[in-house]
Amino acid sequence: MERLLDGRVALVTGATSGIGRVTAREFARMGAQTLIVARDPGRGQAAAREIREATGAAVEVLVADLSSREEVRRLAREVNDRTGRLDLLVNNAGAIFAERRISADGVEMTLALNHLAYFQLTLELLPLLREAPGARVVNVSSMAHESGSIDFDDLQGERRYGMWKAYAQSKLANVLFTRELARRLSGSQITANALHPGAVASGFGRNHPGFFGKLVAIGAPFLASPERGARTTIHVATSPALRGVSGRYFSSRREKAPSRAARDGDTALRLWQISEAMTQPATRLPTP
Ligand SMILES: NC(=O)c1ccc[n+]([C@@H]2O[C@H](COP(=O)([O-])OP(=O)(O)OC[C@H]3O[C@@H](n4cnc5c(N)ncnc54)[C@H](OP(=O)(O)O)[C@@H]3O)[C@@H](O)[C@H]2O)c1
Repeated sequence: MERLLDGRVALVTGATSGIGRVTAREFARMGAQTLIVARDPGRGQAAAREIREATGAAVEVLVADLSSREEVRRLAREVNDRTGRLDLLVNNAGAIFAERRISADGVEMTLALNHLAYFQLTLELLPLLREAPGARVVNVSSMAHESGSIDFDDLQGERRYGMWKAYAQSKLANVLFTRELARRLSGSQITANALHPGAVASGFGRNHPGFFGKLVAIGAPFLASPERGARTTIHVATSPALRGVSGRYFSSRREKAPSRAARDGDTALRLWQISEAMTQPATRLPTP
């Protein structure tokens, strides 16, 4: 592996497991100063140890529950304390919730973790991203976005909750956020792209009670490895060919058109405004 990232600073969320763990390891191998975010300090240190053993590089562990607005804010402050620039931000931490759950802020968990955390963390880290020439924001979405819609009348599943509905909506939100972010950042050196990592055997869905958890366990041998799953993230984050490419969606390391709903600029704008209101006081990014 080339040391493409010598002198660069990278932050990866959800790096204690699956796709994020491999992504962080490969960034470290490529020479980046790598910071990982974990909600559990023990799992964070275990991931850091494994990466150090595999690559010889030290990674720094930051602890935050990304479903909490206050913890995201504190995390952004800690990143600021540790570095003066951020070249790569990979928003990757995500989950699916069998039952409707509420975050510390009273927000439905899928929305809070899978979408609002991506939104808030990115906006809070923009000043650091601006300090790095050609910084990249990479949002790990899913092909599940294709079956999603943004239910503005019931965004948090208060009237009707379905785990797939909530998950697909959040992954659609990732693509819409990427689109609107890229639009607002046009003319800057920062790019933002989203991706589907493939169907990957990871921690995803593993702890689910009932049928879904069993299905994930049975299906695991037929799914791609986390190494394979991380390839598209690493490609979008590091490929020199993608310099300046922004607002796009990738799958299997190739650009792909996302769903029609994911290309709706009005929905992207409306979601942005709601997300901004829900994560105040994140840094404001004016409409160009
Ligand atoms: N696996 C697939 O087939 C697949 C397909 C399409 C898209 N994706 C997307 O890929 C991304 C990574 O998923 P994965 O498959 O690698 O799953 P995973 O192995 O379950 O990893 C998820 C990561 O998110 C972290 N996380 C969960 N809740 C958190 C919270 N409240 N605060 C901070 N971190 C939290 C987990 O930390 P802990 O170790 O503490 O649990 C873990 O590090 C997700 O965004 C997912 O939607 C996955």
